[in-house]
Amino acid sequence: MQKVIETSGICKKFGTTTALDNISFSVNESEVFGFIGPDGAGKTTLMRVITTLLLPDSGEIEVLGKNCRTGYKELRKEIGYMPGRFSLYQDLSVEENLEFYATVFGTTVKENYHLISDIYSHIEPFRKRLAGQLSGGMKQKLALSCALIHKPKLLVLDEPTTGVDAVSRSEFWDMLGKLRKNNITILVSTPYMDEAMRCDRVALIQNGKILAINTPQSIKNDFSSKLFSIKSREKYKLILALRSFSETNTSYPFGENVHVTFKDNILPPSLKGYLTDYGVDDAVISESEAGIEDRFLELMQT
Ligand SMILES: Nc1ncnc2c1ncn2[C@@H]1O[C@H](COP(=O)(O)OP(=O)(O)O)[C@@H](O)[C@H]1O
Ligand SMILES: [Mg+2]
Repeated sequence: MQKVIETSGICKKFGTTTALDNISFSVNESEVFGFIGPDGAGKTTLMRVITTLLLPDSGEIEVLGKNCRTGYKELRKEIGYMPGRFSLYQDLSVEENLEFYATVFGTTVKENYHLISDIYSHIEPFRKRLAGQLSGGMKQKLALSCALIHKPKLLVLDEPTTGVDAVSRSEFWDMLGKLRKNNITILVSTPYMDEAMRCDRVALIQNGKILAINTPQSIKNDFSSKLFSIKSREKYKLILALRSFSETNTSYPFGENVHVTFKDNILPPSLKGYLTDYGVDDAVISESEAGIEDRFLELMQT
């Protein structure tokens, strides 16, 4: 299988901040590959290195068989990049934005329209509207159309769903799934752990380091402890109680519940009594399946 991205030992510092710390990974053709990590993890910096907009301090990087230092001119034509904050011209209309991006890359909207027709059809009725007056979800679709209009081989999307409503988020991932069928490789970053499940493989990134690279399912399966989910009306009190309980290994809020692991990997018989004495008398305890976020937190502690 051809590698679309191949990096080894990428390092990048900004002053005393280490943004990328010895990053090595590769991405296969037609893969949807996710960078998953919190704010400041290094996702944007890594994407800027891959799109040839930033040179690493050290390390090797090849994209689509070209060296990012020497081949950047040809490479930029083969990459579609959607930066975190939308790259649209707010005072140009929808169709003017699209025309603009096509022209910059020496192509026409007509030539590659088939690639974007599915996505663009949602915003086509508003083609005369200024981009600045579109909703978040529509801006996102237009930005994706603009990133695709020159028929890139690699699409790089930096947090495309951040600040977009849940329905648009889900629609967006459906569209990415369809794009893959056109032999387009997709690199996408997100702070939303649930979106990791929509990728073929993901890299979990924290403090400029890759903590794990695998399929989302394998990452979940690597969770090594027995996980319990505990619910109470008094969630905050429950967390305080769990954190002061001697048998607790980890405990953190997870949606409506608190996710907990215990030192001996079993539910301590004394827990219920301890919680009641603490003033949490309605705790419902169940065993739970670990998600990506649980594994992420586990990796962060080792
Ligand atoms: N141009 C820059 N100058 C100084 N520090 C930067 C710059 N870009 C990023 N950083 C720092 O590098 C780290 C990684 O940032 P970034 O790649 O933007 O993370 P993410 O996209 O995952 O939120 C952060 O600590 C950030 O403050
Ligand atoms: Mg970022």
